[in-house]
Amino acid sequence: MNKIALVFIAILGLTTFITGKMTPVTTAMADTNAINPNGSSELSLLMRQMHSHAAEARAAVAEKRNVAYPAAFLAINTAQPTDDETKNEHFEGFSKAYLQMLDNYIASTDENRIKNYNAVVYSCLSCHSSHCPGPVPKIKKLLLPEVFTD
Ligand code: HEC
Repeated sequence: MNKIALVFIAILGLTTFITGKMTPVTTAMADTNAINPNGSSELSLLMRQMHSHAAEARAAVAEKRNVAYPAAFLAINTAQPTDDETKNEHFEGFSKAYLQMLDNYIASTDENRIKNYNAVVYSCLSCHSSHCPGPVPKIKKLLLPEVFTD
C-alpha cells in the first residue's frame, strides 16, 4: 500500500469519526428510500405503491393473471407533491390516461395482457417525460418484450 492510500484512509477515518460524532446514526439512516431529505411527499409514497403494483403485474404476466390495483391510486390528482411547481397543467391529462390504461389492463385476457400491461408503463413514461424525468430509467425496466403479440 502506498503513502497516498494511507493518507486517504486516514482522512476517511477522521471524517467518519467527526461526522459520526455530530450525526447520530439513527437519524442518518432514517427513511433511506427518500430522495427528498425533508421526508417523502404523499405523491412520492403513492408513486412507490404504483411502482410496486406495476412490478407485481409484470411478474403476474407469466402466471397469466391480472393484478387488481388499490382505490388509493384514484387519489393521484389530489396527493401532495414534494414541490408545488412539480405539476404542470398537463398533469391531470396524464393521470387520466394512466387510470384508463390501468382499467384496460385489469380487463386483460391472455391475448392482450402484455400489450395492456406495457400500455400502463408507457402512460407512466409519458407523464414522467414532462414532469419528473429522474425515475425514467427505473420505469423503463418495467417494460416487457412484446414478442408474442402482433
Ligand atoms: C400523472 C403523472 C404521473 C404518472 C402517470 C406517473 N408518475 Fe411517477 N411521479 C410523478 C411525479 C410528479 C413525481 C414526483 C413526486 C414528488 O416529487 O412528490 C413522480 C415520482 C415517481 C417516483 C419517485 C418516487 C420517490 O421515491 O420519490 C417513481 C419511482 C415513480 N414516479 C414511478 C412511476 C410509475 C412506475 C408510474 C406508473 C405505474 C408512474 N410513476 C406514473 C408523476 C407521474
